[in-house]
Amino acid sequence: MTPDLQTAGAERLQHWREHEQTRGGSGGRSASFGRPVRGDEPDFAHGVALYLDDITVSFDGFRALNALSLAINVGELRCIIGPNGAGKTTMMDVITGKTRPDAGSATFGQNIDLLRLRENAIAQIGIGRKFQKPTVYEQLSVFENLELALAADRRVRASLFSRLSGEQLDRIGEVMALIHLTAQAQRTAGLLSHGQKQWLEIGMLLMQDPKLLLLDEPVAGMTDEETERTAELFLSLEGQHSLVVVEHDMKFVEQLTEGWKKVTVLHEGRVLAEGTLSDVQANQQVVEVYLGR
Ligand SMILES: Nc1ncnc2c1ncn2[C@@H]1O[C@H](COP(=O)(O)OP(=O)(O)OP(=O)(O)O)[C@@H](O)[C@H]1O
Ligand SMILES: [Mg+2]
Repeated sequence: MTPDLQTAGAERLQHWREHEQTRGGSGGRSASFGRPVRGDEPDFAHGVALYLDDITVSFDGFRALNALSLAINVGELRCIIGPNGAGKTTMMDVITGKTRPDAGSATFGQNIDLLRLRENAIAQIGIGRKFQKPTVYEQLSVFENLELALAADRRVRASLFSRLSGEQLDRIGEVMALIHLTAQAQRTAGLLSHGQKQWLEIGMLLMQDPKLLLLDEPVAGMTDEETERTAELFLSLEGQHSLVVVEHDMKFVEQLTEGWKKVTVLHEGRVLAEGTLSDVQANQQVVEVYLGR
């Protein structure tokens, strides 16, 4: 962490405090839902990060998910592919509490029933989601965006109101390095390239240290070079986080799977095939519904 970054951080913080005061504060701690109590912490001791079992979602009788079952291990990087309308985004909507399934169960770790939690609480227990369109604060700098993401975590909000600790500044520095934006720390986010905005948003998710990251078409609209860098970023996150990556870009999927990781193919709301990328590419049904198009 360079001293000028620390000075800049302090200045930004002052700025942000003033901003908070003019809009009447954050609502205070009473406005928070609070962290889950100890017994409600996710338990990853058995190595499973996420378990979906027999999930069905119907929209006016149409089954967007049809008895979908899927398990993701702790630290696993899983790519999910499949044709348009297969239910990939709907699956993420279920995991994050945006859509309630008609049937089935969704468990985070060994013990957390996701279907009983609201979106907000799901984000708080460690599930981060990246939507396709980057949603960064365009008028704020890269650093300020990351700072705000830190503040969104109510575990650290109270301390952030007094000052950023050295540890928090270090974390911002670490994340900026991971997302290749250290040199852009003071740059207004609105001036970043599309790919850089995507990385910044991923960085904002990382500030909350999610156990599970859901990434829906993260490289759509990126240049080839940005796509490659994104794959490197995800590979560096693997192990410390579980990542579920939905993508149509097969070159990207190939880079992520490194020839051996499991890929899941969704079709008509359920798992059509699972295996290495070359396994599923050789699967006749997969070729028919998706790859052979
Ligand atoms: N809110 C909704 N109301 C009605 N139908 C919906 C709704 N959300 C999704 N669907 C339908 O459910 C199906 C699955 O959609 P979903 O967005 O999950 O597919 P996807 O696999 O993410 O596709 P894509 O690759 O195009 O992003 C589609 O037929 C879609 O039209
Ligand atoms: Mg989708």
